Amino acid sequence: MPNPTNDKPVNANSVNKSNQGMLDKFRNLPNDSPQKIVVVTIILCLTCSIMVSSAAVLLRPLQLSEEQLSKRIEILKVAGLYDEDESINSLFNHIETRIVDLASGEYVTNIDPDRYDYERATREPETSVEIPKNQDIAKINRSAKYAPVYLVKEGDEIKNIILPIYGYGLWSTMYAFISLQADGKTVEAISFYQHGETPGLGAEIANPQWQQRWVNKQIFDQQGEVRLRVIHGAVDKTSKNAPYDIDGISGATLTGNGVTNMIRYWFGERGFGPYLAKLQQGA
Ligand SMILES: Cc1cc2nc3c(=O)[nH]c(=O)nc-3n(C[C@H](O)[C@H](O)[C@H](O)COP(=O)(O)O)c2cc1C
Repeated sequence: MPNPTNDKPVNANSVNKSNQGMLDKFRNLPNDSPQKIVVVTIILCLTCSIMVSSAAVLLRPLQLSEEQLSKRIEILKVAGLYDEDESINSLFNHIETRIVDLASGEYVTNIDPDRYDYERATREPETSVEIPKNQDIAKINRSAKYAPVYLVKEGDEIKNIILPIYGYGLWSTMYAFISLQADGKTVEAISFYQHGETPGLGAEIANPQWQQRWVNKQIFDQQGEVRLRVIHGAVDKTSKNAPYDIDGISGATLTGNGVTNMIRYWFGERGFGPYLAKLQQGA
């Protein structure tokens, strides 16, 4: 059939034949010919780079960033499950991560907890809310609508509830995980894992000896009011407030006030208050 765009008819057979001829010519070159070495090297490099980039793209969802891994270590530590000889991921299998709608206190099922980027959700306008100035006692400006909670379980029973909390101290935002007993109101452990307070003063919030003073303290009073606080000076063990009071760190009253404020915020109505109330009702 004549070809309307070209005077010479295109003959597919002749094209195939000439390709075949080039291939045969290439194949028949001696193995140590420079052309053959260059072409084979290029093909090898291309194949390897395609394989490596495909593996990187395909495996990306399964990889944890450095930050996610170190957060998992902190959660395991506060859960009392950390063992440096064991794989972080297999230890983390003992912990169930759930996402909570902070406003309602209900679990959210349409977000994959393993892929939820809480820090990002806190920044983005669509996934967070601005906190009215008069309610922003932790000085965090915005809060994500949904927050992760980490449940340490024994069979079907919840043993500990670990919550991420943060708030402003004197110089910086302080980040902690607090572990509660199954009653949702008694402190099992706390770990301040990131802050920029002064070494020897405010930075003592990260001192395990000070954190030990939180164990068995009560967050709420009988009326459900948040009462846990860091006081100025040492706790009077005979005082009726002793179950809620934590020794202050000397020279760091302002950091201590920041810690008290973050506790009041995160266990209040805008934080995990609704969630813990539901949990206590057995919902
Ligand atoms: C260089 C410098 C760093 C300080 N860092 C802290 C700090 O991290 N946290 C804090 O509460 N106070 C810090 N302070 C002290 C506060 O300014 C304030 O004096 C103190 O909180 C009062 O606490 P006190 O009543 O326990 O002494 C620092 C002071 C100086 C001069």
